[in-house]
Amino acid sequence: DWTPAHFVETTVTAIREKVGTGHVICALSGGVDSSVAAVLVHKAIGKQLTCVFVNNGVLRKNEFQKVQENLRDKLGLNLVAVDASERFLSKLAGVTDPEKKRKIIGNEFIAVFDDEAHRISQETGGVDWLVQGTLYPDVIESSSVKGPSQTIKSHHNVGGLPETMKLKLIEPLRDLFKDEVRRIGRDMGMPEDILGRQPFPGPGLAVRILGEITPDRVALLQEADDIVVAEIKAAGLYTKIWQSFAVLLPVMSVGVMGDQRTYAYTAAIRAVHSEDGMTADWTPLPYEVLKRISSRIVNEVRGINRVVYDITSKPPGTIEWE
Ligand code: XMP
Repeated sequence: DWTPAHFVETTVTAIREKVGTGHVICALSGGVDSSVAAVLVHKAIGKQLTCVFVNNGVLRKNEFQKVQENLRDKLGLNLVAVDASERFLSKLAGVTDPEKKRKIIGNEFIAVFDDEAHRISQETGGVDWLVQGTLYPDVIESSSVKGPSQTIKSHHNVGGLPETMKLKLIEPLRDLFKDEVRRIGRDMGMPEDILGRQPFPGPGLAVRILGEITPDRVALLQEADDIVVAEIKAAGLYTKIWQSFAVLLPVMSVGVMGDQRTYAYTAAIRAVHSEDGMTADWTPLPYEVLKRISSRIVNEVRGINRVVYDITSKPPGTIEWE
């Protein structure tokens, strides 16, 4: 019979045997899969695993700190946190084309991770293995003909391999579905904060800021997004929805605040139900929740004075706006 405890036990033993005295690295995204994979490998080989977590400048509010608290401070992982936000944001400056944004972020990520991997390799006398949080559906998907959504947007996952290093792969979650991964995480005492997280795209807030990405716009969206997540959680809806977030539109309109005229950006609210991200239905959030989100954003985020609601399903829309 499959139980999380049994899976953890046999996988830990297998990883120990496989790795021996070798050194392992992993790229953490803060998401469920890469975190559970890393914690599993850490359980097996402890300090022989070094995790790298990159701030690409388009993470959510406080995400860079929260991931470090959870995985290094609480769970004890050997974690290198690289703040590369300036490097990413300067490469993104002036770029408005969605595909170009994605390419820039993907390429920068590989470059930053590669630098770190080489540095860790020198410190430890050589890195042999790379952990990836690949799940069974990912295995199936990459072995079959790509569906249309793969060709519509180029997807970047945080696990992008540094080609030059020729690392061997450890994929401890290869036979599992998402719900099993969550159960394993729970069995290993990981916080619900990590395990219950909604999916978040590799290119982060960059695909939720239409037009040019500037540090100011990132800060505005981080605030708006934080309000959306907080209110959806407060309403008890967070784990029932596939994804819920804000999008920053560089569309300015006139408003009034106290006796002041405002002229500021627009935020769109997006919430969808989905099984796998391939198709999705827009979620009818309760009016009360929408009302709170809207009034908090307009009152608390200086720079956004209008909130609209996205009622497009996928297809024909996509979940992300870019
Ligand atoms: P779309 O916008 O194509 O998104 O309907 C489908 C699902 O994929 C996520 N997404 C990404 N995930 N790297 C990722 O790891 C990416 O580049 C990326 N782009 C979109 C999106 O959040 C949704 O869950």
